[in-house]
Amino acid sequence: MQTIIEPFRIKSVEPLRHTTLEQREGFLREAGYNLFGIRARNILIDLLTDSGTSAMSTEQWASLMRGDESYAGSDSFYRLRRVADDLTGFRHMLPTHQGRAAERILFTVLCKPGHVVPSNTHFDTTRANIEFTGAKAVDLPIPEAADTQLRLDFKGNMDVTALEALIAREGAAHIPLVMLTVTNNSGGGQPVSMANIEAVSRLSRGHGITFYLDACRFAENAWFIREREPGYADWAPKRIAQKMFSFADGCTFSAKKDAFANIGGFLSTNDDRLALLENNLLILTEGFPTYGGLAGRDLDAIATGLEEVLEPDYLRYRIASTGYLGRHIADHGVPIVEPPGGHAIYIDAGRMLTHIPPSQFPGQALAVELYRHAGIRSVEIGSFMFGDAAQHELLRLAIPRRVYTQSHIDYVVEAILEVNARKSAIRGLEIVEEQPFLRHFTARLRPVTAGATR
Ligand SMILES: Cc1ncc(COP(=O)(O)O)c(C=O)c1O
Repeated sequence: MQTIIEPFRIKSVEPLRHTTLEQREGFLREAGYNLFGIRARNILIDLLTDSGTSAMSTEQWASLMRGDESYAGSDSFYRLRRVADDLTGFRHMLPTHQGRAAERILFTVLCKPGHVVPSNTHFDTTRANIEFTGAKAVDLPIPEAADTQLRLDFKGNMDVTALEALIAREGAAHIPLVMLTVTNNSGGGQPVSMANIEAVSRLSRGHGITFYLDACRFAENAWFIREREPGYADWAPKRIAQKMFSFADGCTFSAKKDAFANIGGFLSTNDDRLALLENNLLILTEGFPTYGGLAGRDLDAIATGLEEVLEPDYLRYRIASTGYLGRHIADHGVPIVEPPGGHAIYIDAGRMLTHIPPSQFPGQALAVELYRHAGIRSVEIGSFMFGDAAQHELLRLAIPRRVYTQSHIDYVVEAILEVNARKSAIRGLEIVEEQPFLRHFTARLRPVTAGATR
């Protein structure tokens, strides 16, 4: 059979609410044309993020009931530790309430002013947590990644030559760790090859530098390796993931992605001394080391999710369904970051809306129009989010795991193609009110009036 179906059936449903065009225009005005300000009940299809938005399985709901809420030494902790140990092989696993808590603890222990932390591309919380310690976060993606239209198998790779040059320039003593984000979220959800993981690991360790994975989407990355890298076609995804982790000295992990959990994460390391320091910080802000910031039931659901996510039927469907959205809009003339990534499709709004300059936020204008037209929420990743540091004007359509069916995605495709057909009528936006920090969460905007200068 050629048709790839959702590898699940639906037991419990959550109604979606349709709204009218007039209602949505009202919600947009009230929210200052910022989709973070719109109540979720007024969204029809929510593609804001794939983080914490997964549908849990019957086994995960059963895990919630099994959750052991003992303050210390709960069975749920030991269950998660067994599953995480088997997968990652790291000596220590500290649960945290989400990925950024793991990042904060790791960088507080390892980084200080004068340090530099390279990555293929740091996620924004990773960058912020590194820079909060006074260290500098540096992105070293392969140069080809800058071309959104180029179709490469492993566009999330790190530029190993650039890493070598950075180590020579800064000195290994100033680089407390090297990181790789798998898949590379800020780089379009693109995968990293096993060969690149191995090369970065060898170079880092050769200079005595610790090497970490930001492993949020390790299973999606493993599937891409299976599909695209010679030699892995017959490997189980779990074996590929185990090999990925074997090159690292530790990892940060947000269980809100590839563990299908609504909350949670962990920090792992092979270094006993580091684990001791991390445990002290963990107790200070997250909780006792056998629960981190989580309830026992969450630990249990994460353990179950970590096993489910590696099922080949699920990963085949997951990667194919993201590609389905990407191909159906790209093949009808909508420019996307090519090739489709694992968890999201990124529309190149700068290329699509050439009449809107970056100063009028083409990605945000497209996000607003997609909501106005069809009730779909997405997120801008461009000049509105990053200011002058933006490299592209993108609109991200992140796909929650196991939540939407093919007909939902067909609706999204239809809406995007309709918006694309009359794109010249879309107007840019200007900021009318903003706070200095994280403006994309809180800023209010308005459409630029016709005839305004660029
Ligand atoms: C690559 C990457 N790293 C880290 C994080 C942070 O994880 P959390 O949202 O659980 O704090 C995210 C979240 O989206 C991410 O995509």
